[in-house]
Amino acid sequence: MKIPLVDLQAEYAECDAEVRRAVEEVLTSRQFIGGPAVAEFESELADYCQCRHAIAVGTGSDAVLLALMAVGVGEGDEVITTPFTFFATAGSIARLGAKPVFVDIEPDTFNIDAAKVEAAVTERTKAILPVHLFGQCAEMNEITHLAEKRSLAVVEDAAQAIGATQRGHRAGSFGKIGSLSFYPTKNLNTVGEGGAVLTSDDRLAERCRQLRNHGETSRYHHAMIGGNFRLDTLKAAVLRVKLQNLDRLTDARRRHASAYGELLADCHVSCPVVRDYNESVFHQYSVLVDDRDGLKERLSDEGIGAGVYYPVPLHRQECFTYLGYRQGDFPVAEFTADRILSIPVHPFLTDEQIQLVAKEIRLFFDTKT
Ligand SMILES: Cc1ncc(COP(=O)(O)O)c(C=O)c1O
Repeated sequence: MKIPLVDLQAEYAECDAEVRRAVEEVLTSRQFIGGPAVAEFESELADYCQCRHAIAVGTGSDAVLLALMAVGVGEGDEVITTPFTFFATAGSIARLGAKPVFVDIEPDTFNIDAAKVEAAVTERTKAILPVHLFGQCAEMNEITHLAEKRSLAVVEDAAQAIGATQRGHRAGSFGKIGSLSFYPTKNLNTVGEGGAVLTSDDRLAERCRQLRNHGETSRYHHAMIGGNFRLDTLKAAVLRVKLQNLDRLTDARRRHASAYGELLADCHVSCPVVRDYNESVFHQYSVLVDDRDGLKERLSDEGIGAGVYYPVPLHRQECFTYLGYRQGDFPVAEFTADRILSIPVHPFLTDEQIQLVAKEIRLFFDTKT
């Protein structure tokens, strides 16, 4: 039996007719940019994320970039973020001529350690960019209080956490502005690339809409330099269909995660920890294992997909050598990068498949001891 890490075949099988109908409607309308599908998707998404505005863009990376541009991050600014995330988080900071300043992560949630952020603030700090990794929100109380105290913007990278809550509030709604990705492997995904910026600040929303369209304020008049960050209408139409299924699919992910928690108890892996004030959407179910590469190979031999997110923390990336960080600067991120392994938690797993994954993990340790 093959158990993939992501199962788009199953995901599209259950909404195939609706997706085809939505695509057909856009094709018939001949409106491929903007139009009602984009506007309606933005309004539904904003409601879902408990924000006043959602601005749909071409990719999740553009969403981070646009959010940073909107709060005015630029040349010479510093932005505090985590070294344990997808490249786009810090890449977007650097693309704007600003400096990513890393702060180590918590050993159990893998999110930025909020208690260590204040020590990294300088007079150049413009923003704090927490990432809600693997579907669980970073500790936002501490971060938003600090940001208020030091007049900093909070930009949330919620690419992996749509629908996740902390103390009842949804990911992307804590800071001044947030970003989402709709890449095909994300919990909410589309037929290709996609992303969105979230904010409840009317002025920032307007700025994002202008920046998304080359900074255009009225036709062919440009008050700022932006880019073409628009989301295609076709993708928005598909996202409207898929947003309706998201809660049900998230529930399935949560059930699978809870099953793994029981099946892998007392085993030689550390299961993910979810804080009692958080509800994770389990974008990934990521365990820590000493012999990570051995276990990954064993699972692969058995037809079970597993992924390493992320093997190299960002302060160790070649392109960031100029920042001057060294091995040992962020020991928790480094320890985690050597041991992390994500196992299948997608919504279409059967009970039998979950049991099989857990059994193979247990067998791996039995044969080692
Ligand atoms: C944490 C994080 N930030 C940003 C991105 C960028 O999104 P995209 O791949 O849609 O550009 C991703 C997606 O891979 C991500 O996981």
